[in-house]
Amino acid sequence: DSLLKELQDLETEHPQLITVDSPTQRVGSDPLNSFKQIKHRMPLLSLANAMNKEEIIAFYEKIETRLNNNSNIEYICEPKIDGVAVELVYENGIFAYGSTRGNGEIGEDITNNLRTIKTIPLKLLNDYEMPTLLEIRGEVFINHKDFSYMNQTRLKNNIQPFANPRNSAAGSLRQLDSMVTAQRPLKIFCYAPGVINGIKLISQEQFLSVLPKWGLPVNPLVEKCYSLKDIISYYDKIESLRNRLEYDIDGIVIKVNSFNNQKILGERSKSPRWAIAGKLKPQQITSVINNIEISVGRTGAITPVAKVEPVYLGGVTISNITLHNQDEINKKNICIG
Ligand code: IVH
Repeated sequence: DSLLKELQDLETEHPQLITVDSPTQRVGSDPLNSFKQIKHRMPLLSLANAMNKEEIIAFYEKIETRLNNNSNIEYICEPKIDGVAVELVYENGIFAYGSTRGNGEIGEDITNNLRTIKTIPLKLLNDYEMPTLLEIRGEVFINHKDFSYMNQTRLKNNIQPFANPRNSAAGSLRQLDSMVTAQRPLKIFCYAPGVINGIKLISQEQFLSVLPKWGLPVNPLVEKCYSLKDIISYYDKIESLRNRLEYDIDGIVIKVNSFNNQKILGERSKSPRWAIAGKLKPQQITSVINNIEISVGRTGAITPVAKVEPVYLGGVTISNITLHNQDEINKKNICIG
């Protein structure tokens, strides 16, 4: 803080010395009245879902057939981060603007808010050739630890806590006053290219390996797979790691590695044929019912609520669980203890 203050004083005295990536340039813009709309040069597609291993196998087989059973097809597997999709646009290495996904074609200009995220470089590092235009897609999220600290502080100050890390990340990016966003512990993982001009990249693997050279964060659990067996072991591995991760994920993403192969496979209207989201089962955890209380709704409807020993799951602490009605309680033979 004291160094930042010293820097601010120096920059006030010598404004000609302010650089585009000075830490003082992350906050300070006036609150907006509304967000401008931004048309994406290339639509931000979503992903088709594979709900279980069988659907992953079906995806794999379709790819192998469509690419003529070429046995050398490589895949890149990544965790599917449960956050908020954004696009960052760099012009000649300088962060120019950024937007939300919106409807995939048009998003909202959240540049000021993205500037407050410390791990988003305002100027790219020079460890790789510099593209004239670089569009990067990524997911903004909040860590479990940061989330629970933030909620504890909100509770202490009599402010309604956030429901979960994803909601709070989304709410934070939607602030018209970026000073508010700057207080939120937002992080980002980058995972997909948009339009890139001035350099040629040939695969997802190469793309992900270049991002850190520009200073852009990439999830460390990305793996290259050469077979269906590799993909399934990746799925199992991420499923078993899930509870120990510092952030929420809701699956894995399997992508055909070569950009050339991606082009051959092409896209449907809303999602690419070369990638799929392998969903993970909803998380489960065990607890003990300490009491059953009756909650009376606004309309007078009564609902039994189990008060359970608090358990932490998917970024939230659970202490109340609806039991719906007496029939449900009877059917499942739910008892205190
Ligand atoms: S790739 C064309 N990779 O999942 C491919 N998406 O349901 C575009 N997401 O909107 C997406 N982690 O918000 C990709 N490693 C990852 C991802 C990821 C999370 C989100 C993203 C996207 C949604 C698709």
